[in-house]
Amino acid sequence: MKKILRIVIILFITALVVIQFFQPEKNQGEMTGDHLFEVTDVPEDIKTLLKTSCLDCHSNQTKYRWYNHIAPASWLVNSHVVNGKEELNLSEWGNMDVLEKISALDKMCEEVEDGKMPLKSYKLMYPGARLSEEQKALLCEWTGKLSEELLTEMEE
Ligand code: HEC
Repeated sequence: MKKILRIVIILFITALVVIQFFQPEKNQGEMTGDHLFEVTDVPEDIKTLLKTSCLDCHSNQTKYRWYNHIAPASWLVNSHVVNGKEELNLSEWGNMDVLEKISALDKMCEEVEDGKMPLKSYKLMYPGARLSEEQKALLCEWTGKLSEELLTEMEE
Protein backbone atom coordinates (compact mmCIF):
# COMPACT_ATOMS: atom_id res chain seq x y z
CA MET A 1 0.00 0.00 0.00
CA LYS A 2 2.77 2.38 0.99
CA LYS A 3 4.59 1.57 -2.23
CA ILE A 4 1.56 2.36 -4.37
CA LEU A 5 1.12 5.66 -2.61
CA ARG A 6 4.73 6.52 -3.26
CA ILE A 7 4.37 5.69 -6.96
CA VAL A 8 1.22 7.82 -7.20
CA ILE A 9 2.96 10.79 -5.59
CA ILE A 10 5.99 10.45 -7.86
CA LEU A 11 3.75 10.24 -10.95
CA PHE A 12 1.81 13.29 -9.79
CA ILE A 13 4.95 15.36 -9.27
CA THR A 14 6.37 14.21 -12.59
CA ALA A 15 3.16 15.25 -14.33
CA LEU A 16 3.28 18.67 -12.67
CA VAL A 17 6.84 19.14 -13.89
CA VAL A 18 6.07 17.95 -17.42
CA ILE A 19 3.06 20.22 -17.90
CA GLN A 20 5.26 23.26 -17.17
CA PHE A 21 6.75 22.79 -20.63
CA PHE A 22 3.34 23.49 -22.19
CA GLN A 23 2.85 27.18 -21.58
CA PRO A 24 0.43 29.43 -23.43
CA GLU A 25 1.73 32.60 -25.02
CA LYS A 26 1.75 35.55 -22.61
CA ASN A 27 -0.62 38.44 -23.21
CA GLN A 28 1.88 41.25 -22.99
CA GLY A 29 1.57 43.41 -26.05
CA GLU A 30 2.90 46.93 -26.38
CA MET A 31 0.61 49.73 -25.27
CA THR A 32 -0.40 51.46 -28.53
CA GLY A 33 -2.28 54.60 -29.50
CA ASP A 34 -5.43 52.50 -29.99
CA HIS A 35 -5.82 51.79 -26.27
CA LEU A 36 -8.98 53.25 -24.73
CA PHE A 37 -6.88 55.42 -22.41
CA GLU A 38 -5.01 56.93 -25.39
CA VAL A 39 -8.05 57.49 -27.59
CA THR A 40 -10.37 58.88 -24.93
CA ASP A 41 -9.88 61.12 -21.96
CA VAL A 42 -10.90 58.67 -19.21
CA PRO A 43 -11.27 60.05 -15.66
CA GLU A 44 -8.67 58.76 -13.19
CA ASP A 45 -11.15 56.92 -10.97
CA ILE A 46 -12.55 55.01 -13.96
CA LYS A 47 -9.03 54.22 -15.16
CA THR A 48 -8.18 52.77 -11.77
CA LEU A 49 -11.41 50.75 -11.71
CA LEU A 50 -10.81 49.30 -15.18
CA LYS A 51 -7.16 48.53 -14.36
CA THR A 52 -8.05 46.75 -11.12
CA SER A 53 -11.11 44.87 -12.31
CA CYS A 54 -11.17 44.46 -16.10
CA LEU A 55 -7.97 45.01 -18.04
CA ASP A 56 -6.27 41.72 -17.11
CA CYS A 57 -8.77 39.97 -19.41
CA HIS A 58 -9.94 42.76 -21.70
CA SER A 59 -6.70 44.28 -23.00
CA ASN A 60 -3.41 43.21 -24.57
CA GLN A 61 -1.63 43.87 -21.27
CA THR A 62 -2.28 41.30 -18.57
CA LYS A 63 -0.55 41.96 -15.27
CA TYR A 64 0.78 38.53 -14.35
CA ARG A 65 1.46 37.42 -10.80
CA TRP A 66 4.20 34.82 -10.30
CA TYR A 67 1.73 31.96 -9.76
CA ASN A 68 -0.07 32.83 -13.01
CA HIS A 69 2.97 31.40 -14.79
CA ILE A 70 2.54 27.93 -13.31
CA ALA A 71 0.50 25.33 -15.19
CA PRO A 72 -2.36 24.48 -14.88
CA ALA A 73 -3.18 27.97 -13.49
CA SER A 74 -1.54 29.55 -16.54
CA TRP A 75 -3.95 27.63 -18.80
CA LEU A 76 -6.93 28.99 -16.94
CA VAL A 77 -5.63 32.57 -17.09
CA ASN A 78 -4.97 32.16 -20.81
CA SER A 79 -8.46 30.89 -21.53
CA HIS A 80 -9.96 33.86 -19.67
CA VAL A 81 -7.75 36.27 -21.58
CA VAL A 82 -8.47 34.72 -24.99
CA ASN A 83 -12.23 34.57 -24.43
CA GLY A 84 -12.38 37.94 -22.72
CA LYS A 85 -10.49 39.70 -25.51
CA GLU A 86 -12.69 38.07 -28.11
CA GLU A 87 -15.69 39.81 -26.57
CA LEU A 88 -14.03 43.09 -25.67
CA ASN A 89 -10.46 44.32 -26.12
CA LEU A 90 -9.96 47.81 -24.73
CA SER A 91 -6.47 47.92 -26.28
CA GLU A 92 -8.21 47.99 -29.68
CA TRP A 93 -10.62 50.81 -28.88
CA GLY A 94 -9.22 53.00 -31.64
CA ASN A 95 -10.05 50.35 -34.25
CA MET A 96 -13.70 49.97 -33.27
CA ASP A 97 -16.41 51.89 -35.07
CA VAL A 98 -18.81 54.14 -33.20
CA LEU A 99 -21.66 51.65 -33.01
CA GLU A 100 -19.33 48.93 -31.71
CA LYS A 101 -18.10 51.31 -29.04
CA ILE A 102 -21.59 52.30 -27.95
CA SER A 103 -22.70 48.70 -27.78
CA ALA A 104 -19.54 47.77 -25.81
CA LEU A 105 -20.12 50.58 -23.31
CA ASP A 106 -23.72 49.51 -22.87
CA LYS A 107 -22.66 45.90 -22.23
CA MET A 108 -19.90 46.91 -19.82
CA CYS A 109 -22.42 48.62 -17.59
CA GLU A 110 -24.91 45.80 -17.92
CA GLU A 111 -22.41 43.01 -17.11
CA VAL A 112 -21.19 44.89 -14.06
CA GLU A 113 -24.68 45.70 -12.80
CA ASP A 114 -25.70 42.06 -13.21
CA GLY A 115 -22.63 41.02 -11.22
CA LYS A 116 -21.36 38.92 -14.15
CA MET A 117 -18.12 40.91 -14.49
CA PRO A 118 -15.45 40.62 -13.30
CA LEU A 119 -15.66 36.81 -13.42
CA LYS A 120 -16.46 35.11 -10.13
CA SER A 121 -13.18 33.16 -10.01
CA TYR A 122 -11.28 36.43 -10.48
CA LYS A 123 -13.16 38.10 -7.64
CA LEU A 124 -12.31 35.14 -5.41
CA MET A 125 -8.60 35.41 -6.25
CA TYR A 126 -8.55 39.22 -6.13
CA PRO A 127 -11.16 40.52 -3.69
CA GLY A 128 -9.99 44.04 -4.52
CA ALA A 129 -11.45 43.61 -8.02
CA ARG A 130 -14.96 43.22 -6.61
CA LEU A 131 -17.00 46.35 -7.34
CA SER A 132 -19.11 48.12 -4.75
CA GLU A 133 -22.56 49.42 -5.67
CA GLU A 134 -21.02 52.87 -5.70
CA GLN A 135 -18.31 51.83 -8.16
CA LYS A 136 -20.85 50.12 -10.40
CA ALA A 137 -22.90 53.32 -10.49
CA LEU A 138 -19.77 55.32 -11.25
CA LEU A 139 -18.85 53.04 -14.15
CA CYS A 140 -22.38 53.17 -15.60
CA GLU A 141 -22.45 56.92 -15.29
CA TRP A 142 -19.23 57.10 -17.29
CA THR A 143 -20.31 54.58 -19.96
CA GLY A 144 -23.59 56.48 -20.37
CA LYS A 145 -21.84 59.80 -20.71
CA LEU A 146 -19.29 58.54 -23.23
CA SER A 147 -22.06 56.86 -25.28
CA GLU A 148 -23.92 60.13 -25.47
CA GLU A 149 -20.78 61.97 -26.56
CA LEU A 150 -20.16 59.39 -29.28
CA LEU A 151 -23.76 59.68 -30.47
CA THR A 152 -23.54 63.44 -30.67
CA GLU A 153 -20.28 63.21 -32.61
CA MET A 154 -21.92 60.81 -35.02
CA GLU A 155 -24.83 63.13 -35.66
CA GLU A 156 -22.64 66.14 -36.28
C1 HEC B 1 -10.81 37.03 -15.29
C2 HEC B 1 -11.05 37.59 -16.58
C3 HEC B 1 -12.08 38.70 -16.73
C4 HEC B 1 -12.19 39.88 -16.02
C5 HEC B 1 -11.31 40.34 -14.88
C6 HEC B 1 -13.28 40.60 -16.62
N1 HEC B 1 -13.81 39.88 -17.66
FE1 HEC B 1 -15.32 40.48 -18.88
N2 HEC B 1 -15.25 38.68 -19.86
C7 HEC B 1 -14.37 37.65 -19.57
C8 HEC B 1 -14.68 36.51 -20.39
C9 HEC B 1 -13.94 35.18 -20.37
C10 HEC B 1 -15.77 36.88 -21.21
C11 HEC B 1 -16.47 36.05 -22.26
C12 HEC B 1 -17.31 34.96 -21.71
C13 HEC B 1 -18.38 35.42 -20.76
O1 HEC B 1 -19.20 36.29 -21.13
O2 HEC B 1 -18.41 34.92 -19.64
C14 HEC B 1 -16.11 38.24 -20.84
C15 HEC B 1 -17.11 38.98 -21.42
C16 HEC B 1 -17.34 40.32 -21.18
C17 HEC B 1 -18.27 41.14 -21.92
C18 HEC B 1 -19.15 40.70 -23.07
C19 HEC B 1 -20.39 40.08 -22.53
C20 HEC B 1 -21.39 39.72 -23.60
O3 HEC B 1 -22.12 38.77 -23.37
O4 HEC B 1 -21.41 40.37 -24.63
C21 HEC B 1 -18.21 42.40 -21.38
C22 HEC B 1 -19.00 43.62 -21.83
C23 HEC B 1 -17.26 42.34 -20.28
N3 HEC B 1 -16.76 41.07 -20.18
C24 HEC B 1 -16.95 43.41 -19.47
C25 HEC B 1 -16.10 43.35 -18.37
C26 HEC B 1 -15.87 44.45 -17.46
C27 HEC B 1 -16.52 45.82 -17.57
C28 HEC B 1 -14.98 44.02 -16.53
C29 HEC B 1 -14.47 44.76 -15.33
C30 HEC B 1 -15.42 45.31 -14.43
C31 HEC B 1 -14.63 42.63 -16.88
N4 HEC B 1 -15.34 42.27 -17.99
C32 HEC B 1 -13.72 41.85 -16.20
C33 HEC B 1 -13.33 37.70 -18.67
C34 HEC B 1 -13.12 38.72 -17.75
